[in-house]
Amino acid sequence: MTTTYIGEATSRVDGRAKVTGRAKYAGEPDIANLVYGYVVGATVARGTITAIDATEALSVPGVLTVLTHENSPLPVSRRSYIDEAGSPGETFIPFRDNRVRFSQQPIALVLADTFERARYAASLVRVEYDQETHLTDLEAALTDAYDPPWRVLLPPIPGPRGNAEKALAASAARVDVKYGAPAEHHNPMEPYASTAVWEENGTLTVYDKTQGVKNVQGFLCSQFDYDDDELRVLSPYVGGGFGSGLRPQYQVFLAVLAARELKRPVKVTLTRQQMFGLCYRPFAIQRVALGASSDGTLNALIHDAVQNTSRYEHYCESTVHWSPLLYKCDNVTVSFKLAQLDLTAPADMRAPGAAWGLFALESAMDELAVELEIDPLELRLRNHAETDQVRNVPFSSKALRDCYTQGAERVGWSRRKPEPRAVRKDGALVGLGMASGVWESPQLMASASAVLTLDGALTVSSATADIGTGTYTIMAQIAAETLGLPLNQVTFKLGDSSLPRAPVEGGSFTAATVGPAVQAACLKVRDQLFGLAQRIPNSPLAGVTSDEVVADDGHLRSRKDPSRAVSFADAMQNSMVNEVEGTATTGPDPKQQGYGTYTHSAVFAEVHVDEALGTIRVPRMVSALAAGRVLNPKTARSQVLGGLVWGIGMALEEESVIDHKFGRFMNHSLGEYHVPVNADVHDLEVIFVDERDDVVNPLGAKGLGEIGLVGVAAAIANAVYNATGKRIRDLPITLDKLL
Ligand code: MOS
Repeated sequence: MTTTYIGEATSRVDGRAKVTGRAKYAGEPDIANLVYGYVVGATVARGTITAIDATEALSVPGVLTVLTHENSPLPVSRRSYIDEAGSPGETFIPFRDNRVRFSQQPIALVLADTFERARYAASLVRVEYDQETHLTDLEAALTDAYDPPWRVLLPPIPGPRGNAEKALAASAARVDVKYGAPAEHHNPMEPYASTAVWEENGTLTVYDKTQGVKNVQGFLCSQFDYDDDELRVLSPYVGGGFGSGLRPQYQVFLAVLAARELKRPVKVTLTRQQMFGLCYRPFAIQRVALGASSDGTLNALIHDAVQNTSRYEHYCESTVHWSPLLYKCDNVTVSFKLAQLDLTAPADMRAPGAAWGLFALESAMDELAVELEIDPLELRLRNHAETDQVRNVPFSSKALRDCYTQGAERVGWSRRKPEPRAVRKDGALVGLGMASGVWESPQLMASASAVLTLDGALTVSSATADIGTGTYTIMAQIAAETLGLPLNQVTFKLGDSSLPRAPVEGGSFTAATVGPAVQAACLKVRDQLFGLAQRIPNSPLAGVTSDEVVADDGHLRSRKDPSRAVSFADAMQNSMVNEVEGTATTGPDPKQQGYGTYTHSAVFAEVHVDEALGTIRVPRMVSALAAGRVLNPKTARSQVLGGLVWGIGMALEEESVIDHKFGRFMNHSLGEYHVPVNADVHDLEVIFVDERDDVVNPLGAKGLGEIGLVGVAAAIANAVYNATGKRIRDLPITLDKLL
């Protein structure tokens, strides 16, 4: 019998620990003698601190100290540092100086014996500022937009091809429009939290809410001048990240700073309101111009985006990268500019760049379809890109046509009426809309180790994360299948900086990056077992070659003659070996260079609009995805469901609102920052189309973290147009814009 796990719908192996509360998060370790830190945030958006008076705060019983830029022990190292997910510029470090760069910037940390006392004392810290005029409005900063230095993490901005302006002017049908998008906050369920445990020997153990333990370790070691073996970062469970935990956040720096100062364990957690003072998806203003001949052939495509960054970092994302790629078009120009505002730096947030870029492109494609009087799905099929025109290479696989066909069939696209306001149901206007989605599917470098013990238990580890995506589960599946062991004999360890190196969990690359390392480590164990098995006197596997042997049901077995087999235990016992270990580091194969590797989707949405009230409901969405091999249909579907729900929020609800007088995000609570709740979410269907890919990585899996969200907001906006005849180009589509 063969042990098959890859591709099986498997429940989360960490599910029980999570629902029973056994899973401990970064703010929950059970530690004695704990000190609680509470952050005081700046109340102005720009200026300098002229005085901080903590006298009153210090008089509160239980308060130990108040750290500020004036008295905090400066980190021994002042090495400049850009973390794995960082942007060019200067990394923000709390308490470096008296400058205030954004409202809610941490300017003091109150440390006390309880959280409540620290919080109360924080309200008593008096701060005086020399306030300067701030600018927090992207529209007002557009004239200062510039071409930013580019992030190493991202591919460069695609250069122009053909002459887009000229082709646009000569096109029979044209669309040339602007789209606006607000800032959004990640709002993971688990707030930012860090617990730094100072040990007697001066080393530190840091529990942090992060998507990358190695990244946080590298940052802290650079700032406080530790070696890797002196500072360990743990993050075994993460209550949602969505990009907010890709970079080391300020609370982890503060927790370490305080733990060193007090020589005690210190916990710093942020409140929901304080979380609106960290990172967010930036504002975006975009122009998309499309030109086509009357048969719908796309001749010209221009996509220009301007987004905001902070004053200290150039946060860029791949907003315009997808436009030269998704459709065949010979005349294309894209640009991406930044404008600096007196705000904290934006950050990657699920499908960074593509979320805004594809909203604009896919809305514009819908507008072009209206202009041409061609069905929007048909327009996309006519302009389907058969090759990657950006790099002039073939795609490793691209089953997008199947996504269109199967999604359309499922949602009943053929019943759609092209003219708006043509369908009503129970008094509401009914609309159908669709959009395409695309995201990259890279493989990065990662390491893993696998240890098999005599009792048949396999422990596989890598310093990756599980931010709710199912990493624990799929890695256990890959290991179990590779070594032919029952799933419940496999333990996967992650979220510990002492484990073999892996990148942050992000960019949808974890399955494709860590998966191959896990597979390779397990194959090394198998090869060693095979060596041991052949040492057995009169071994049943004598003369069998290594590529002929399979690991299956706790045995090594000849593929040709399954009766020739040696159990793992016999192989180990014969050589008096108690455990077998394999480690591996894997990365992209050079052959991948010759291909464009992307995931694709087609999203279909039905909306019902109440004309009298302007309310929009989304009774139904279908997402059809081409994501290579699906490792676990259950967790994969969950990923996409999350993306669809988020897309409802992006289209209709989510918006971080700044009061420019204060330069501060004002709707800083889940009461005022709206996300979809159960009443907003109805029938969601996820279809994975068949897509075989032997190039993208050894597993053939493409990753699903981002693609589920890409295109969803455009599909809903296009459906709203189909229902009402109103084209809303500024997200979110709230009822005031519709009435
Ligand atoms: Mo994702 S924004 O790469 O965590």
